[in-house]
Amino acid sequence: MLSLSSLAVAALAAVGANATPVEVARRATPTVYLAGDSTMARTSGQHMGWGEYLSRYITLPVVNKAISGRSARSFTNEGRFAEIERLVQRDDIVVISFGHNDGGSPNSANDNGRSACGGTGNEVCRSGKTGELVYTFNYYMENAARSFIAKGARVVISAQTPNNLWDGGSFYGGAPPRFVPYAAQAAKNVGNGASFVDHYQAVSNMFRRLGNQATNALYPTDHKHTSPYGADLVCQAFVQAVALNLNGTTPLAQHVKQPVPNVFPAPGGSQPTNPPTNPPTNGGGNNGGGNGGTAPLWGQCGGNGWSGATRCAQGTCKMQNEWYWQCVP
Ligand SMILES: *[C@@H]1O[C@H](CO)[C@@H](O)[C@H](O)[C@H]1NC(C)=O
Repeated sequence: MLSLSSLAVAALAAVGANATPVEVARRATPTVYLAGDSTMARTSGQHMGWGEYLSRYITLPVVNKAISGRSARSFTNEGRFAEIERLVQRDDIVVISFGHNDGGSPNSANDNGRSACGGTGNEVCRSGKTGELVYTFNYYMENAARSFIAKGARVVISAQTPNNLWDGGSFYGGAPPRFVPYAAQAAKNVGNGASFVDHYQAVSNMFRRLGNQATNALYPTDHKHTSPYGADLVCQAFVQAVALNLNGTTPLAQHVKQPVPNVFPAPGGSQPTNPPTNPPTNGGGNNGGGNGGTAPLWGQCGGNGWSGATRCAQGTCKMQNEWYWQCVP
């Protein structure tokens, strides 16, 4: 697609360097940029990050700049926020999600380059390994957000995703990690142009509904990284929270496609309790090979309201609860 902005840049180039700079036109359609860690990134093997599925549920183009193993600090130091700052144009939207790699102690001798200083303000500390001046999670997040807003873009700060909340067989419904309230605070501190989505709570509510076996099946190797199908569900929880304006209005809300995902019970219980929608029948949107009308091992194969494949490519379709049947070995 040839965008308005590339036309404007081409026009500038054609009239030469001495021309009076003209304001670069905004894009016809805003672009959504994603900044985050492995839980959002395009990954490979048995895992996938949720950012890869966002364009299924919103009407805007999505550019996924999330990358495994990063924190707000290392994303800053590697120039990755700066790269997005160069790319964004007026009215673009940047979704930022960190927290999984931001804990730990920078002042230790084996500082991993990712941990932030304690606190949520202007506190600083020194890396025990390199002497680098290190800032707080909020400092890195708010700095990045302000740099995008200064270019006319809008910022959606997403709380980090939870780990497997059924790890160990019973549901963890306790307090979220500290980076969840920190992220909410970051959006509030930045103010105009920034908004917040409690993605942690949305996914937590979805996992509570899914139950033990169905949730555990979304985690093929560890308690942090989901399968492609799990990432799709985690993405749907984000989009549902956006559509419900769960924690205030974001600029994404008006771009959510119909039908809106319904993977967690809405606060107040006003929505019907449908099963999760749109599971991939090929084992994962971006790295699966199609296998026709069958559900993959561990995939959904039935349940109330289910309209996808009901035969298993591998294993047997077993009822987990009334709205979730699954292919199990
Ligand atoms: C987000 O909104 C929900 C629903 O109103 C609320 O329960 C939750 O505490 C909010 N999250 C944060 C971090 O404020």
